[in-house]
Amino acid sequence: MCGIIGYIGDRDVSEVVIEGLTRLEYRGYDSAGVAILNDNGIDIRKRPGKLNILKADLKKNPIKGHIGLGHTRWATHGIPNEQNAHPHTDCKKNIVLVHNGIIENYQMLKDGLTKRGHAFRSQTDTEVIAHLIEENYKGNLEEAVRISVKELKGAYAIAVLHKDEPDKIVAARCESPLIVGIGQSEYFVASDIPAILKYTNKVIFINNYEIVSIDKKGVRVIDYSNQPIKKKAVCVDWDITQAEKGGYDHFMLKEIHEQPDLISNILNTRVRGNRIHFDELRIKDTILKKIDKIFIVACGTAYHAGLNGKYMIEWLAQVPTLVDTSSEFRYRNPIVGKNTLVVVISQSGETADTLAALRESKKKGAKVLGVVNVLGSSISREADGVIYTHAGPEIAVASTKAYTAQLAILYLFSLYLAGLREKRTPYKIAGYLKELKKAPGHIKKMLEQYGDAKKSDLKHKARIFNREYHKRLKDYYQRDSEGRKRAPNCCFLFLGRNVNYPSALEGALKLKEISYISAEGYPAGEMKHGPIALIDENPWTICIVPESSLHEKMISNIMEIKSRGGIVVAIATEGDEEIRKVGVDYIIDIPRIEQTLTPFLVAIPLQLLAYFVAREFGEDIDQPRNLAKSVTVE
Ligand code: AGP
Repeated sequence: MCGIIGYIGDRDVSEVVIEGLTRLEYRGYDSAGVAILNDNGIDIRKRPGKLNILKADLKKNPIKGHIGLGHTRWATHGIPNEQNAHPHTDCKKNIVLVHNGIIENYQMLKDGLTKRGHAFRSQTDTEVIAHLIEENYKGNLEEAVRISVKELKGAYAIAVLHKDEPDKIVAARCESPLIVGIGQSEYFVASDIPAILKYTNKVIFINNYEIVSIDKKGVRVIDYSNQPIKKKAVCVDWDITQAEKGGYDHFMLKEIHEQPDLISNILNTRVRGNRIHFDELRIKDTILKKIDKIFIVACGTAYHAGLNGKYMIEWLAQVPTLVDTSSEFRYRNPIVGKNTLVVVISQSGETADTLAALRESKKKGAKVLGVVNVLGSSISREADGVIYTHAGPEIAVASTKAYTAQLAILYLFSLYLAGLREKRTPYKIAGYLKELKKAPGHIKKMLEQYGDAKKSDLKHKARIFNREYHKRLKDYYQRDSEGRKRAPNCCFLFLGRNVNYPSALEGALKLKEISYISAEGYPAGEMKHGPIALIDENPWTICIVPESSLHEKMISNIMEIKSRGGIVVAIATEGDEEIRKVGVDYIIDIPRIEQTLTPFLVAIPLQLLAYFVAREFGEDIDQPRNLAKSVTVE
């Protein structure tokens, strides 16, 4: 996810663009750049790293002008360096362009353009667009953009300038967001509203397959067949911070809501026909065929995704798979050989323990594959191979969208291995992919049902818990004179079986890390080996009991809890009549899906329950105490 901005008007464009990029930095922050059109032509300045570096550079060597573009990058193709930073240009540097999104067919387009004599300067997918426009430019920038974007596949929001049309910016949108800001004889294009709020709150929202041209006289919108489109401007009443969160109260809630599009995007870019592509993998199929053992190593939420990966890989690809936390793996002298594949999972790509586990594995001669979100991070550079999750920046400390993105990548990798090692037929793999493609729609449906911060039923449940929790503590301290032996159990137990045992661990972690309430995840079969001693009328037990071959076993666990007075919240498949007969206290329905894919859906109510409980307790949800987004120390 990146941030783009364009401006035309009478202000100092450098100031406007930097202000806009500052407000868009939450969308990506591994490099930034500006392009300004003035009497000397197009002046481009770009720097790797945070926006501050570019800001300081422009302060020292300012660029004057009143029309320009800006970009803050979240790298998807090409590591974060100056060469790959946006803006990008055509061969002759007459055209300059910024882009947010992923061009899926960039390689095929790049090959064709190279054959026709175009010279590329970067490894990005974006630069292809600038050369396409160059090829189609016949004196009309809007027309050149219109012809060019029709060749693109994937997601894009672009803004383009041409040296020979110094009073115009042309922009286009497919899937990635794009808005137009309308000021007093000044106009803006941007990825998101925060970028322009300082100057105007009058906005036009651009839809997919629309092209907008702005100049000092105004705004013109056409569709891809050159038909003019009438657009109505709206006035937004968000303040800046709200706008950076897309109108959500917290980044965590915003990121929870990004999951349907994110998983669709992973499937659209990774699955073409029924073939799975990991273009950046770098580990040859011949090596993957010889692997006789897999270790999955990670921390926290990534570790829980890895536990799910074990079930997926062993079930689909039938390779023995062990899972370890990085901090344990790195010190226990693991049995790793040249035919071992170590998969390290890390959203940040910088977690110290996971990086150490990677280095330990390489020292022992294993091949290491990184499943990482941040391009150019240490793990992505030091691993033998990498698969990016492309989840965009995850700002909230509590990981949500990165988790489901990791699940998606691990599931696709398991299918890839299964096909490569002929453990599953192409027909079966196509069937699994068809089922996986249902996940985004199901998640979207659950977010509509439970995700609204104003009217979600989960918020209501969290309020009940909050009231019960404080009533018990008050009762306890009032009755302290009776010399009670122990404080009441005010904790949450999360129970699941098979692929939803990791879901139980993840649900417990989400709750405890943002609400500071004691919460434990267990494999449900373990209850009778100790944890059931915790059950009395106090603790809430979240039972993950979707339709599956172990449904009856979960029902028995629920009955054991209910018979001891425990309170049970069941996460069950919609229409499950049996669960309604065993007297659970609350039911959270999830749509029906193939049982190995239920963790994708179960994650949503678990994330939202943690969010609403923490909200009821008034905690700092995006930046919980004692935690950091990336633990780069031991
Ligand atoms: C999860 O919500 C936490 N933020 C934490 O457990 C996190 O998953 C862990 O620190 C691993 O981080 P990484 O994925 O960046 O390596």
